Amino acid sequence: MIELAPSILSADFSRLGEQVRAAGEGGAAVIHVDIMDGHFVPNLTIGPPVVKSLRKVTELPLDCHLMIENPDEFIPVFAEMGANWISVHQEAVCHLNRTLHLIKSHDCLAGVVINPATPVDTLSEVLDIVDYVLVMSVNPGFGAQKFILSTLHKMRQLAEIRHRRELNFRIEVDGGVALDTVGDVVRAGAEILVAGNAVFGKGDPKKNAEELLKAATEAALQKV
Ligand code: DX5
Ligand code: ZN
Repeated sequence: MIELAPSILSADFSRLGEQVRAAGEGGAAVIHVDIMDGHFVPNLTIGPPVVKSLRKVTELPLDCHLMIENPDEFIPVFAEMGANWISVHQEAVCHLNRTLHLIKSHDCLAGVVINPATPVDTLSEVLDIVDYVLVMSVNPGFGAQKFILSTLHKMRQLAEIRHRRELNFRIEVDGGVALDTVGDVVRAGAEILVAGNAVFGKGDPKKNAEELLKAATEAALQKV
């Protein structure tokens, strides 16, 4: 099943509640929240208080993408503020097994993220633990970047490994997902589609989300 996860990074923060509601009306299944620390990535965004505020304005699951060093220090507080899904970067964590279990111990779905330059092979020992794998299709740090085509094969590879090893993790994609790339990512095997600029960049988030979801669903039908 294809699900849309609008990223609030490109939303108008002065009207965040309204924008999240509009994305929900447009069919969003999850709200993607980009947490950046200015160290792991060259940008700063939001922290636990914003997650707490988001929790009050939507019942959709909050998908917190931690682009931070030492995520173990912050996983408990994000869970407490209302995160439902928490993902950490393979590149930022030394003891990935421990970190994923920490996320699960806080009753959140646990995800692992790989940057465009990180191979899928680095995840072989955690694929049976994670609830989802997030394939970055841009270098993390900023919204509205160009989709990196060479990341598509990693979605295909993950789908193939999942089938071969009879695993259950879901495949999420993040970065540059828009009307011109959504067909490719869905056909490659992505099921949870993060989209920031394409939903909140301009125009009506509700209409943008509807159009993107429609294009994604059509591509999924072609795949069968
Ligand atoms: C990038 C973030 C993304 C970003 C995607 O570091 O992880 O979630 O918001 O934005 P778009 O869809 O605009 O590429
Ligand atoms: Zn993200």
